[in-house]
Amino acid sequence: MSKPKNTASGTLTARRGGPLRGAFKVPGDKSISHRALMLAALAVGETTITGLLEGDDVRHTAAALELLGVAVTRDGLGAWRVNGVGIGGLTPPDDVIDLGNSGTAARLLCGLLAGHGFSAVLTGDASLRSRPMGRVVTPLTAMGVTFQANDGERMPLTVAGSDNLRPTAYTLPVASAQVKSAVLLAGLHAPGETSVVETTATRDHTERMLGHFGAEIRVEDVSDQTGRRITITGQPELAPAAIAVPADPSSAAFPTVAALLVPGSEITLPGICTNPTRTGLYASLAEMGADLTWRDERVEGGEPVADLTVTASALAGVEVPAARAPAMIDEYPVLAMAAACAEGTTVFHGVGELRHKESDRLAAVAAGLAACGVAVEEGPDSLTIQGAGGAPAGGATIEAALDHRIAMSFLVLGLASENPISIDDGSSIETSFPDFAGSMAALGADIGPDE
Ligand code: S3P
Repeated sequence: MSKPKNTASGTLTARRGGPLRGAFKVPGDKSISHRALMLAALAVGETTITGLLEGDDVRHTAAALELLGVAVTRDGLGAWRVNGVGIGGLTPPDDVIDLGNSGTAARLLCGLLAGHGFSAVLTGDASLRSRPMGRVVTPLTAMGVTFQANDGERMPLTVAGSDNLRPTAYTLPVASAQVKSAVLLAGLHAPGETSVVETTATRDHTERMLGHFGAEIRVEDVSDQTGRRITITGQPELAPAAIAVPADPSSAAFPTVAALLVPGSEITLPGICTNPTRTGLYASLAEMGADLTWRDERVEGGEPVADLTVTASALAGVEVPAARAPAMIDEYPVLAMAAACAEGTTVFHGVGELRHKESDRLAAVAAGLAACGVAVEEGPDSLTIQGAGGAPAGGATIEAALDHRIAMSFLVLGLASENPISIDDGSSIETSFPDFAGSMAALGADIGPDE
């Protein structure tokens, strides 16, 4: 039922054309969708979810939960039901758990499995198998989980959970919502209080949703102004709670930047999640001179949302401070495309974490922009882009490297470049933005397979 679709691979090309106009509903938030399925699986009884992202990443989470004995049913587009088995109620899988391209699925699932006294083998595609898992292995090992991994930290990964998990107090060495979430999900299965300290705030959907399902969770500021300590009391009984997933601000970033760059454009994107731990891109674009109007701010399903209207704008280069990175960690590639068309220099500071995403995004953005005729300098932890002050040359084929955000970013640039830009393989886009090309075409963009 929830098996990921087998999407066709193949080249996609974006060409300059007329303005983008109209409105469309961006797909559901990926981070919230994974968490909705996982927490619903731990509640006792049936949870209904609307607006669920039906991208391959989330389908992999749904399929994983089914392998672990949870009934997951799709009633219609974005409408899903999960029959939760309660904390500690997952059952041993009779197959390897394949998480495709999804780091969030892999790391959060380690947290869920931690409190179950059986073994499971997790694997994924070539991209996921190259990503570091040591960041979850370390804290979960301290709680009593045993791992076996390639190179000590790569998938395939065998997770042997424990029925006698120990609570922990863990300070995150990297700003990572996935690691924070894995520890909190493990903490749900341990007696007493488990706490995580993050020195910079990262997306807080897990905390919000745990509260929504009735868990006892405390969030306190710690001495430095941006950090916080999150404490969960283990072994509660979670009650099913309906969830409405808002539109994904990370996916909205692509039509937003496209509309800013294509002259004469004006588009509206309703119901975008405006959680402040996710909106760093929009703050950066506003600093660059982007015309963004947020209307009808409201709360839906425990998350703030608003409707966004984007009007084409002349952009200026900007310095993006390191402290903003967690609030826009997935949006640097597309912001780099805006920077390539802006007047003046843009610098991204403190972005070393981009090397550990679906691809090494610092290297991929730098190489792709250079191929499109943009002057760019890649540092170990930074990226400097000299804006063309208008349309860059383009005219390149970019290797998407199994990375959806690299693929979509360069297609967006192709809509604004003098010459078309192609990506070698668009299949990864299905992980987060089903029918991206079709949705963009409905706004008037020329994106499609080569004839
Ligand atoms: C995510 C957290 C971020 C982000 C990823 C989704 C999440 O990763 O890049 O796309 O849903 O928790 P890190 O926790 O590794 O920063």
